[in-house]
Formats: sequence, structure tokens, C-alpha cells
Amino acid sequence: MNSRSLKKFNVKYGPYALVCGASEGLGAAYAEALAKRGLHLVLVARRKDLLENRAKELKEKYPVDVICLPLDLGDYETAKRRIGALEVPIGLLVYNAAYCPIGLFEETSEQQLARLVAVNITGPLLLTRLVSEAMIQNRRGGIVLMSSLAGGQGSPRLASYAASKAFNAILAEGLWKELKSRGIDVIASCAGAILTPGYKQAQHARAPGTLQAAEVAEKTLHMLGKGPIAVPGGVNKAARFLMSRIVPRKSAIAIMSNNTGALS
Ligand SMILES: NC(=O)c1ccc[n+]([C@@H]2O[C@H](COP(=O)([O-])OP(=O)(O)OC[C@H]3O[C@@H](n4cnc5c(N)ncnc54)[C@H](OP(=O)(O)O)[C@@H]3O)[C@@H](O)[C@H]2O)c1
Repeated sequence: MNSRSLKKFNVKYGPYALVCGASEGLGAAYAEALAKRGLHLVLVARRKDLLENRAKELKEKYPVDVICLPLDLGDYETAKRRIGALEVPIGLLVYNAAYCPIGLFEETSEQQLARLVAVNITGPLLLTRLVSEAMIQNRRGGIVLMSSLAGGQGSPRLASYAASKAFNAILAEGLWKELKSRGIDVIASCAGAILTPGYKQAQHARAPGTLQAAEVAEKTLHMLGKGPIAVPGGVNKAARFLMSRIVPRKSAIAIMSNNTGALS
């Protein structure tokens, strides 16, 4: 990014970005990509030590302020209280945290499903509502919601996770249009496989088109303000096109079923 684009990015989305799910993986990559662009950070995740290490590394590398908020995003009331009490202006929300129970629906407990709704749906929905109030008043800001290629069709053994990712993509599309007139950019990132700790734990073989977290963060932020959906990576763009436009719906679900069979 040249200095003019950096300045524009800061004016539009600064001074602070709130990154939810920032202790490792893609969230940590978003934090670094934003620090590189000169934004100050509020980092949220459950593991305090990891967050503090992240913050220390970023402060040593970039001239930015980093605030750590260790909390569970599955508890919205606490998250709202702690985030609402921040005395710094949030110009960008990146909601990256997710909960992904893998396995048959009948083997997924009610508690797991309730947690999935809390972390993957209530969290991004209500935090978007919370932070967008000031953004609307200021007539500027940005919101990045993490979706997934898995959310493009039914995904056996990931059915509830995939449905929650579809929710984020559809929410971002509606808000992209609605909040544009208020000066706020909204985008959903429909990522394919990303090499993160979460992915490595669930999948032992690398799927075609697997990307590094830093690439996904960079490509998503590059697309912010340019449209409602980012699909990082050429292979993933082709896969999304095929699955949504070419392949019949039943076949798309069968393809997903073959892929998710290997997850543990
Ligand atoms: N990895 C992939 O292949 C892939 C593909 C498509 C889409 N995505 C999406 O990309 C996003 C990131 O994926 P990832 O693979 O980087 O995940 P990950 O490795 O599991 O990391 C998730 C991050 O969110 C935090 N987090 C999780 N639950 C939380 C909670 N209840 N409260 C606060 N923080 C929480 C974790 O930190 P703590 O454990 O410290 O809380 C961690 O920092 C997700 O939205 C996922 O759906 C991932």
C-alpha cells in the first residue's frame, strides 16, 4: 500500500480496530495486517497469555497501541459490557472467532449447538449492532465478518457451522448495501482452507487452494470497500463459482460430504 492509500485506510477505519478471536490463526494475522496499516488494536480472545504475547510482539514491531480484552465471546452480555466500557473509538470490527463442532448432528449436544449460535451468530450480529452505532454517527467505519466456502451449501458433519457461516455472509451482504449510505463498509470473507491451528487440528491433509492466514487477511482487507464478499485465492474463487453456479445443488452437497468425511 502506498502512503496515500494507507492514510485513506486510517481515516476511514481508524483509529482502533476491534479484532475478535485474535490470539492465534487468522485473527492474529488480521491484527498484524492492521498494525502494519497503522491502526491501533483491541484484541479479544479467551487465552490471556497468548493475547498478551501477541500484543507485545505487535508493539515491538509497529508504532501502535494494543489493548487486550481476554473474554469469552460466547457470553455476549460480558463482551458488551467490556467492549462498551472501552474509551477508545472503534473504526473497524473484525469478527473472526468461531466455534466449529465437527460430527454427526445427532452426536452434537444441545450445549454445543447453543455455543455455536452464541459465538458464530449472536456475537457477530450484536457486536456489529453495538459498534456500528458510533460508526453511523461518525459516518465512517468498516465491518469484516468471517464466513467460509462451507457456508455456500449444506455441509454434512459441519451442518450447523456451515449454516452459521451462511448467516454471516447473508448478513454482510444486506448490511453492505444498507450501511454504505452511512459511510460504513461491510464485507464477508468466504475463505476456503486456511493453515491455522484450528484447521490443522481438524484436517490432516491439505485441501487444494489452502492459504496462509496472512494471505487471507491481506486479501480480505484489500477487498474491504469494494464489494460485499471477498473470496481469497484463485482456486477458492473457482470452487465457489462451480459450487454455486454450475454444479446442481444436490451434487454440491455430495461434494462437501466427501470433503467433510475426513475431518475429525
Ligand atoms: N481455518 C480454516 O480453514 C477456515 C476456513 C474458512 C473459514 N474460516 C473462518 O476463519 C475464522 C478463523 O478461523 P481459524 O481457523 O483461525 O480459527 P482458530 O484457529 O480456531 O482460531 C480462532 C480464534 O478465535 C478465538 N476464539 C474462539 N472462540 C472464542 C470465544 N468463544 N471467545 C473469544 N475468542 C474465541 C481463539 O482464541 P482463544 O481460544 O484464545 O479464545 C482464536 O484466537 C473462523 O471464523 C472460521 O470460521 C476458517
